[in-house]
Amino acid sequence: MTSSSFDLMDYVLRPATAVDREWLWQTKRTCLRPYVEQTWGVWDEDAQRTNFDDSFEPSEVHIITVGDRDAGYISARNDPFEIRLFNIMIAPEFQNHGLGTAVLRQLQEVAHRLFVPVRLRVLRVNPARRLYERIGFKVIEDTATHYRMEWLPA
Ligand SMILES: CC(C)(COP(=O)(O)OP(=O)(O)OC[C@H]1O[C@@H](n2cnc3c(N)ncnc32)[C@H](O)[C@@H]1OP(=O)(O)O)[C@@H](O)C(=O)NCCC(=O)NCCS
Repeated sequence: MTSSSFDLMDYVLRPATAVDREWLWQTKRTCLRPYVEQTWGVWDEDAQRTNFDDSFEPSEVHIITVGDRDAGYISARNDPFEIRLFNIMIAPEFQNHGLGTAVLRQLQEVAHRLFVPVRLRVLRVNPARRLYERIGFKVIEDTATHYRMEWLPA
């Protein structure tokens, strides 16, 4: 896959199923491991896998597909008063082409229609914070390891 061989406008969200579980785990592992290691100094494979399995809820996950390939996923919960964004993961070969931004803007459109905020947590070391700020998220809490961020519908 070269940087110009996919068209962003072709991305489609499809609901995840139990069949996607291993791919989702591998994608999360690949994408987040460096930031977990930078934050806590170690990636505890067993603990991370247990946490992933315990929180795996296919109904909250959409796979982002580009052409016939799974390019990433987004997991979020739509509560009555907020949308909680748990994860957005774009596989490395699809990163930095605007795909994450496009999917997050789509989520913001949903939140705007429902007139609810979107809230998320991001590790302090994760450069994704810059993306969130660029599209209007603000830091609402700052801990030793994370920022909590919020986007409010206008
Ligand atoms: C963060 C992420 C979803 C953004 O999607 P994307 O399609 O790569 O992003 P876009 O091309 O729309 O925007 C680029 C921005 O994404 C962020 N980004 C790009 N690559 C990234 C990476 N490997 N890790 C974290 N953030 C990254 C940066 O903020 C970048 O902008 P900047 O370089 O000007 O600061 C995606 O890069 C990713 O999955 N990263 C690894 C997992 C992760 O950190 N997820 C967020 C957890 S809260």
